[in-house]
Amino acid sequence: MDNHQDNQSRSSLHGQWSSRFTFILAVTGSAIGLGNIWKFPYIAGENGGGAFVLIYLICIFVIGFPIMVSEIMLGRRGRRNPITSMKILGQEEQGNEAWKYVGLIGLMAGFIILSYYSVIAGWTLHYFKLSIFGELSNLNNDRAQSVFGELTGSAVTQLIYHTIFMAITISIIAKGIKDGLERAVKLMMPGLLFILIILLLYSIFQGDFMAGVNFLLKPDFSKITSQSVLAAMGQAFFTLSLGMGCIVMYGAYLPKDESIIGTTTAIIFCDTAIALLAGLVIFPIVFQFGLKPTDGPGLIFLTLPLAFNEIAGGYVFAGLFFILLAFAAITSALSLLEPSVAWMIENKNYSRGKSAIIIGFSIWILGFLSIFSFNILSEFTFWKGTLFDNFDYLASNIMLPLSGLLFTIFASWVMRKDHSTEELSDVSSSIYKLWRFSARYIAPIGVILVFLNAIGII
Ligand code: PHE
Repeated sequence: MDNHQDNQSRSSLHGQWSSRFTFILAVTGSAIGLGNIWKFPYIAGENGGGAFVLIYLICIFVIGFPIMVSEIMLGRRGRRNPITSMKILGQEEQGNEAWKYVGLIGLMAGFIILSYYSVIAGWTLHYFKLSIFGELSNLNNDRAQSVFGELTGSAVTQLIYHTIFMAITISIIAKGIKDGLERAVKLMMPGLLFILIILLLYSIFQGDFMAGVNFLLKPDFSKITSQSVLAAMGQAFFTLSLGMGCIVMYGAYLPKDESIIGTTTAIIFCDTAIALLAGLVIFPIVFQFGLKPTDGPGLIFLTLPLAFNEIAGGYVFAGLFFILLAFAAITSALSLLEPSVAWMIENKNYSRGKSAIIIGFSIWILGFLSIFSFNILSEFTFWKGTLFDNFDYLASNIMLPLSGLLFTIFASWVMRKDHSTEELSDVSSSIYKLWRFSARYIAPIGVILVFLNAIGII
């Protein structure tokens, strides 16, 4: 069989991105989400700040970059959902279908992540409602805590918003990739950036800016443990949407002549900039109001309402901020749902709508467990904490790095060199070599060392 010929004639079953710009937008939309604005500040806070941030940045560039390039490449050659793409490519390169299991781990991780991601996205919808009804005015520290406590204490309220969020996600995916997604991302990204900049100005002039900067950017290596290195790596995977096949999936819709390295550079730059910006907004407020950086998943919901409260017309900005954050969460949620839905369409021959409903419904049910982790099951803890904590730990820190590792090993060790050269033909040979070296050695060794270290072997 002529593999090259075969690859040229394989085309995506679900259409393609209309332009390079749309692809960048969609992947950036997937990458930028709650991971940047909700998760990054709170895990940086829990892991001691500056030193964590430094390790996180190293992970983004040294591990995240080559893996993202590998994942886009695999998707574009496979042109199917991640499981089938890996099966086809495994057969083509090695005569071995077992690579499909790598795609499967990824899809399962996406399933788990979306189940709790939607719950947190629901929190942002609730805060949007509170802002526009003026219920976030005259806040002080105690009141901010109790507003947040009331939300997490109520399974019913969270269930309502979780349902709304999943319903929106399912209905967009049911329509296909072009119509819903493109427009949402184009509007949302600039809006979110604009409000973050206003908040940054607030933090600079009104918050304890230097304390925030010191906390975020000054490394104190005594705070670093093997678990925080694992958390930094897990966050790098999470924020770049790596290791779960969604980048492979989006790569499957990328036209043949687009530059993989060029697009990856743009995406990583935007994602990192937004996370750092969010940190620079949050921590000055944390210190100004005497909150604790270690306040956990509630951090942005405790700090930002306090800041908005003090800005003239703050409730308008607060409403806008939370709705834009919900948008950012939707574009990420779409990428979490799309791979499993595409898998179902391709393998079970169900319609797009039916597939989106079946998978979305199952994820919705799984989400109940995360909701209950904050109230009726909050005492039920094991391993890393509540069910919510365990889902997040398992998916972000174990499943994503594991399948990301295997994707990159496939692209750099298993795939024939002329195949990867063909995919990256737009860059100079030294950049190609740099990618291949990082993908073959640096990223895998990095991931393995962090794992071994975290489980106490080295
Ligand atoms: N990257 C998204 C965020 O930062 C979350 C996500 C993870 C999306 C994994 C897709 C895959 O919010």
